[in-house]
Amino acid sequence: MCEQGMFDLPGTIRAVNQNTGLEDDKVNGMPTDLLGREYETFPAPQPLQQHGPARVIAMCNQKGGVGKTTSSINIGGALAQYGRRVLIIDFDPQGAATVGLGINANAVDSTIYTALFDPTLDPHEVVQHTAFENIDIIPANIDLSAAEVQLVTEVGREQILNGVLRKLKNEYDVIIVDCQPSLGLLTVNALTAADGVIIPVAAEFFALRGVALLMQSIEKVQSRINPALQVYGVLVTMYTKTLHCEEVMQRIYEAFQDKVFHTVISRSIKLPDSNVAAAPVVIYAPQHKTSKEYREVARELVARGVVA
Ligand SMILES: Nc1ncnc2c1ncn2[C@@H]1O[C@H](COP(=O)(O)OP(=O)(O)OP(=O)(O)O)[C@@H](O)[C@H]1O
Ligand SMILES: [Mg+2]
Repeated sequence: MCEQGMFDLPGTIRAVNQNTGLEDDKVNGMPTDLLGREYETFPAPQPLQQHGPARVIAMCNQKGGVGKTTSSINIGGALAQYGRRVLIIDFDPQGAATVGLGINANAVDSTIYTALFDPTLDPHEVVQHTAFENIDIIPANIDLSAAEVQLVTEVGREQILNGVLRKLKNEYDVIIVDCQPSLGLLTVNALTAADGVIIPVAAEFFALRGVALLMQSIEKVQSRINPALQVYGVLVTMYTKTLHCEEVMQRIYEAFQDKVFHTVISRSIKLPDSNVAAAPVVIYAPQHKTSKEYREVARELVARGVVA
């Protein structure tokens, strides 16, 4: 349950979530987003009485370093704080999500790679509980780099992740697949398994470079394999209040219109810091501006019915 505050002024507490004890003020108390669009406040999500089946979200952009992993960890972290059961799939051989959630991927017996290629394995055996309430992860390490080649000769090669996640969906409210920066078969597997895609885009020059290619891949997967696949939204990350970023925002909006999330993630050193701390920033520094922003994105997802 949540208590709604009476005011919506800059800096005032709008709502306190009784689960997390965190203030859920609209970021900066803005009546409009950075694109000047008016929007309703997103209320603190109600607690769930039961869990599952999960929505599967692919965090996807073949451009590197745009905030896919950071957004996977922190949208997941924020939803976990709202009592949602979250499973992160590290789908990148770099293993950044695994490390970012405090798991040593070289010390675990099995990873997502094992789950993909051993059909006799119950994928529950690959799930690792993190130190954070409601967040589990299937880790990845460098082994996954062999998967792209191995998948080519597999029967039903686009459907393999889908088969793994199907066995896990009932225990979670959301499964977030943190994709690697490529449009290869692993990413196609993520798009095939997903209900929808979130595309993080860094607010910088060339932000949209390559996004047309990503949209083509999404459309191909929609038309050939997964017609229900949706684009849940474009999340602008690494925003600073400069003329340059504002221009980039306008370009992103022209390209994606209402698909752009109202909430924008600011550039902040707290995010690399939280990587070092191996914890989601929403847990590591819950009152930090970027934590509020990620919580706002989580609330937007719940308010829009993307996540229960
Ligand atoms: N809003 C932000 N402000 C400042 N730094 C950020 C922000 N978001 C992410 N970073 C940092 O930028 C780097 C890249 O972010 P991240 O790993 O999330 O991107 P990615 O898209 O997953 O990258 P890759 O394509 O390599 O998987 C990391 O060091 C991360 O800590
Ligand atoms: Mg990453």
